Amino acid sequence: MVSEKFTFGMSEDAKRIREEVFVEEQGFQYEFEDKDSKLWTLVLYLDGTPISTGRIEPLDPETYQIGRIAVRKAFRHNKVGTYTMKYLMNKILSLGGRIAVVHAQVDKMGFYESLGFKEDRECPRYYEEHVEHSIMKKVLKKSVKPKLKY
Ligand SMILES: CC(C)(COP(=O)(O)OP(=O)(O)OC[C@H]1O[C@@H](n2cnc3c(N)ncnc32)[C@H](O)[C@@H]1OP(=O)(O)O)[C@@H](O)C(=O)NCCC(=O)NCCS
Repeated sequence: MVSEKFTFGMSEDAKRIREEVFVEEQGFQYEFEDKDSKLWTLVLYLDGTPISTGRIEPLDPETYQIGRIAVRKAFRHNKVGTYTMKYLMNKILSLGGRIAVVHAQVDKMGFYESLGFKEDRECPRYYEEHVEHSIMKKVLKKSVKPKLKY
C-alpha cells in the first residue's frame, strides 16, 4: 500500500533519500540548505518503505517551486515520480497557490513535460554545481478575476 507523509521541514526519511540520490548517485556537494527546515516536504512509502521525496517552496502567494524530487533507484519507471509530483501539486492548491515552477535538470525535462510543465524561455538555463538546469512552469489553476458590480 502506498501512503504519503507531509512534514513541515525535512524528515529523516527525506534526508536519507536525498543523500542516496543527489549526493551519492548524482555527486552534488551542497545538497542541504537552511531553508529545508521551513518547507513542506513529502515522503511516499510503499508498505512502510520510503520510496520518494520532494518539497515545495513559496515564491509568492500564488507561485510555489517544487524541488528535490527524488525516487529511489529501485522504484523508478513505475510512475512513483508522477504520483510524487501530483501530491505536491495538490498541496500547492490546498495552500492557495496556482502556479508550479521547477528548476529541472535538463536531461529530466521529459519527466516534467509528461506532467504538463513547459520551459520558461525568458529564463536562461544555468548550472547548479555540475548539472545544467532549466526553469519550467505549469499553471495548475487559472486566475479568477473578481467581477465588478458597477
Ligand atoms: C526523474 C525521476 C524523479 C523520475 O521518476 P520516475 O518515477 O522514474 O518517473 P515516472 O515513472 O513517473 O515517469 C513518468 C514519465 O516521465 C518521463 N521520464 C521519466 N524519467 C525520465 C528521465 N530520467 N528523463 C526524461 N524523461 C523521463 C517518461 O515520459 C515517463 O513516462 P513513461 O514511463 O511512460 O515513459 C527519477 O528518475 C529520479 O528520481 N531521478 C533522480 C533524481 C532526479 O534527477 N530528480 C530530478 C531533479 S530535476
